[in-house]
Amino acid sequence: MRLSQRVQSLPPYLFAEIERKVAARRAAGVDIISLGIGDPDMPTPPHIVAALQCAAADPANHQYPSNRGSEAFRDAVAGYYRRRFNVDVDPETEVIPLLGAKEGVAHVCLALLDQRDVCLAADPGYPVYTSGPLLADGAAVPLPLRPELGFQPDLDDIEPSVLAKAKMMFVSYPNNPTGAVIEDDFFARVVTFAREHDIAVIHDNAYADITFDGYVAPSFLQAPGAREVGVEFFSLSKSYNMTGWRAGAIVGSPELVDAFWRLKTNMDSGMFGAVQAATIEALSGPQDSVGEMCRVYQRRRDLLVGALRRIGLRAPTPKGTIYLWVPVPEGYTSGSFAGLVLEQADVIVSPGAAYGPSGEGYVRLSLTVPDARLEEAVHRIEERVHL
Ligand SMILES: Cc1ncc(COP(=O)(O)O)c(C=O)c1O
Repeated sequence: MRLSQRVQSLPPYLFAEIERKVAARRAAGVDIISLGIGDPDMPTPPHIVAALQCAAADPANHQYPSNRGSEAFRDAVAGYYRRRFNVDVDPETEVIPLLGAKEGVAHVCLALLDQRDVCLAADPGYPVYTSGPLLADGAAVPLPLRPELGFQPDLDDIEPSVLAKAKMMFVSYPNNPTGAVIEDDFFARVVTFAREHDIAVIHDNAYADITFDGYVAPSFLQAPGAREVGVEFFSLSKSYNMTGWRAGAIVGSPELVDAFWRLKTNMDSGMFGAVQAATIEALSGPQDSVGEMCRVYQRRRDLLVGALRRIGLRAPTPKGTIYLWVPVPEGYTSGSFAGLVLEQADVIVSPGAAYGPSGEGYVRLSLTVPDARLEEAVHRIEERVHL
């Protein structure tokens, strides 16, 4: 079979070596705890599940939905944006459903890039920021997130030859994998930069509600002029423990929302009506579970940060997301340190290099394992990892 260049050019799967070691140890009966994957362990709140159950029994939802989403879905997203961010969104022209933010990240590249056009991709970043442009026959150029700038990019330090070819950029705060949040006028500066260089901005707001210590994350659309230069992806995966449901929305620039809709009418047949009903309930119903979940993650964060510091690591305390982003000790690469933790403690952590060249020198630990397992992982790291 002759596979496309496109598929063959996809980067190798960087967890392959770790997965091989994990499989060998599990086969030998070893109990491995994975802090490698960001998939919430807590269930979807019951009122959201009930909304799905009820809507699934309605024959009206057994037929093809519209790719635009129901009026009630778009109104619910607009209502959420008004209450949560104080942003007015036109439900007619500025919102449509996404089957999760990941789908949006991959497909929006097809709406914006032609051959060899450049996408500036936050580095380190969610891996689809680089594979999405590749699948669209474009090119992803890393946009390094600078530790000294609180893991923001330096927008004044991009090669003019790259800028000339750049048509889009991916940014995301609260940030995976660094846990960084926006503290200043960054989004306003991004809008100015995007206008100046005619670059479409995609702000991936997958962790909008997962924040700690009183920090409240903004929307990109709060920045003046944002909807003229870009869109935001909102996801229900992390805010409402709905990773398996594939629910989100693209919100912002009517021009890009319309282009994305035209593209999607050729790719999928919309979001299942019962999932739309559950999304409406999640966004419009009681929000107590969001705060409770953040309190759980914050407690886990403090537990893990404490243990890592006690073994001598410089673990920062993130104000958002479900990750710790920790510099590895001197003499290690991100891969060799992840290998050491696996061998000595039977705990999986993700090597930072899997998130881009600027991720070298770090590991990412996820807070999405039940408390008892996290406590066991902490105990093992403290007892067994010798630096
Ligand atoms: C930054 C970022 N964007 C998008 C996603 C995927 O979100 P969804 O489940 O809505 O596809 C993730 C998942 O981990 C993520 O970390």
